[in-house]
Amino acid sequence: MARRKIAAGNWKMNGLAASVAELEALKAVDASACDVILCPPATLIAGFAAAAQGSAIKMGGQDCHSDASGAHTGDISAEMLAEAGAIAVIVGHSERRADHGEDDAMVRAKAEAAHRAGLIAIVCLGETEAERDAGDALAVVSGQLAGSLPDGATAADTVVAYEPVWAIGTGRTPSLDDIAEMHDAIRAELIKRFGAEGDGMRVLYGGSVKPGNAAEIFAVSNVDGGLVGGASLKASDFSAIIAAANG
Ligand code: PGA
Repeated sequence: MARRKIAAGNWKMNGLAASVAELEALKAVDASACDVILCPPATLIAGFAAAAQGSAIKMGGQDCHSDASGAHTGDISAEMLAEAGAIAVIVGHSERRADHGEDDAMVRAKAEAAHRAGLIAIVCLGETEAERDAGDALAVVSGQLAGSLPDGATAADTVVAYEPVWAIGTGRTPSLDDIAEMHDAIRAELIKRFGAEGDGMRVLYGGSVKPGNAAEIFAVSNVDGGLVGGASLKASDFSAIIAAANG
């Protein structure tokens, strides 16, 4: 099935108000045939959403709490992100799984919270280098997929991001054959569990996507765009990646 590609940018803990200059520069890019979701720090979402008005660029959060409100100092709910102007939220990024001890059950609860608030959940999965070296990559990702996606997830409200941990921020990427093997396996599992909705869900690749490799990665079987960290911080780089997603 034909799926509209997504170029998603994950700014992580980078960006101050002056970074709106990068957003302004991005607004000129042709994104008529793809979706663009920029995930700046939560402090910038409302201002960026206002600045992006009338452009193709939508906003996303980088994490949310599973509850709508409550005594959770420092946390942000999906409802708060939605009110600030986000249409999506990343959940289960490997940095959250590693630094904040998030397991599949927590990630699933966060994805459910995203859906409750009307947000697209961008659910991240990926094996460590040791797991790949041990030949366990497919099994690890399959387990994360089973545990992290809510029942009832649909093509409209859920995006999967396959991000091998060892490729994030390292400049290393899997071979195109390895990406195809993983994305084909993820697609098969999505169809087995969600039927036609699973066929329609976008599956992004993430981990050292750059202007120089985006087009070849986005052309791989069952790759429906990218979740981009470092290369999304500069408008010139991210524009080139959006152009690759736009086709
Ligand atoms: P990277 O990060 O593009 O800097 O490798 C990707 C991510 O962590 O989403």
